[in-house]
Amino acid sequence: MATNRTFTMLKPDSIEKGNIGAILEKITTSGFRIVAMKMTQLSTANCEEFYAIHSERPFFGELITYMTRGAIVAAILEKENAVEDFRALIGATNPADAAEGTIRKLYADSMGENAVHGSDSNENAEIEGNFHFSGREQF
Ligand code: CMP
Repeated sequence: MATNRTFTMLKPDSIEKGNIGAILEKITTSGFRIVAMKMTQLSTANCEEFYAIHSERPFFGELITYMTRGAIVAAILEKENAVEDFRALIGATNPADAAEGTIRKLYADSMGENAVHGSDSNENAEIEGNFHFSGREQF
């Protein structure tokens, strides 16, 4: 069943390049409502926990270095069919393969530094949202 929420991070390359405003505008004009949002920086321990599923991949060290090198923007987004629609909006993991007009096509440089994260399932959207937002906030 499609749920109405997904989780995103604008990654350090997006913040470094000054693309927060442009990406958030693209997200909101595509019909997503921002339910919760914060700018923060991942510690190495938190980042390794968040990406634990990739811990055996050859790019894991590179991924942790990249994702902890600067600020990120974490957000919970709401829209009908949120997970699937957001994955379509951000485009393929490798920006070279991403469709025209997608966030990664517009703002990402490489497979590793790909501008944004989008949850890949309803289950992970909930886990990842809870990871970044304590649950004490009301939203
Ligand atoms: P994302 O899909 O948001 O979460 C896992 C991240 O690992 C992915 O974005 C990329 O940033 C990174 N990643 C995936 N595949 C590779 C790869 N082959 N080389 C380097 N980084 C990768």
